[in-house]
Amino acid sequence: MKILGIETSCDETAVAVVEEGKRILFHLIASQAEVHERYGGVFPEMASRQHIDRILPLVEKAIEEAGPVDAISVANGPGLMGSLLMGTTAAQTLAYSWDLPLIGVNHVDAHLYAAMMGEEAKMLFPALGVVVSGGHTFLAKISSVGSYTVLGTTVDDAVGEAFDKVATLLGLPYPGGPHIEKLAEAGDPSLYSFKGGVVKGRPLDFSFSGLKTNVLYTIKGKNGQRSSPDTISDEEKKHIAASFQQTALGDIVEKSLKAAQTFPCQAIYLGGGVTNSRALKNLFQEKNLEIPLFWPPRDLSLDNAAMIAGLAYHLYQSGALASPLDIKVFPKIDFKSALC
Ligand code: KG4
Ligand code: ZN
Repeated sequence: MKILGIETSCDETAVAVVEEGKRILFHLIASQAEVHERYGGVFPEMASRQHIDRILPLVEKAIEEAGPVDAISVANGPGLMGSLLMGTTAAQTLAYSWDLPLIGVNHVDAHLYAAMMGEEAKMLFPALGVVVSGGHTFLAKISSVGSYTVLGTTVDDAVGEAFDKVATLLGLPYPGGPHIEKLAEAGDPSLYSFKGGVVKGRPLDFSFSGLKTNVLYTIKGKNGQRSSPDTISDEEKKHIAASFQQTALGDIVEKSLKAAQTFPCQAIYLGGGVTNSRALKNLFQEKNLEIPLFWPPRDLSLDNAAMIAGLAYHLYQSGALASPLDIKVFPKIDFKSALC
């Protein structure tokens, strides 16, 4: 069974065709990073307009290369409302006019599925899912493919978002994660004692806004005497980047391990753009875990449509189908409702 996947939840327009949930026949991501770079983050209205221009040429190319498909899938949430509407409306229109089944896919669930698409990946449940991206940070207990219970989430910024904001404070380009990692390589993470966020009474939740403010005040110096990152030395910037990275990623690792102890966890699946971080991999490796860790293949770590079409195959098998005219977009997940 060949499924066309469409992903437009944020600033990447992506289309893919995946067979039987795993074999990728077509996979293309049209990044908008250069459009949003000058704003230091995603400009939502601009993102929606870019999706309109890019989506149909990508779908045409996909069908040309992979041949006709048996179903259509789309990320219908969570994400930016305008962006989600672009992909979902395109998917609805195609499903309706080609008379094909339509499958709505949860974007963060698909990030976890990406880790199951790697060649080495095994399906071991119950497992811990760790999503670390520009829009989401959460820990979930995965009972089976496409079925999870949220254990913890962020109460403010996502971890990738914190990297992007700290990068802006340090005068680095967007998206900032890879730039911070590079700068941090030559820095000493112990020079600044930043603290990971603690959410009262919720040990598995994250908060990155305090850490970000810590970095801001460090850059501004005593009594706020410095006004811009240009006034601190490159040497200091390296140490700030290293200390911030160590604190933010250390917090992810510690809370992940804590979450894995709350049930008989068989494996950890990680997803989202921050999984590109070598530093995150090293921090997990240092823990010498007895259970296996599965990382997404490099080209499936950022937002992409192969993970959408891949997960859609399993949802379709378990009967999750929507009429093209009924499917709704959901910009936010109600994490406290636990079961998604
Ligand atoms: O998964 P993704 O496309 O975001 C959403 O779905 O929202 O991931 C993009 C995020 C950006 O915030 C970027 O700064 C971060 O992933 N990122 C990294 C690294 N590479 C990408 N963060 C830290 N270290 C990295 N090496
Ligand atoms: Zn994402």
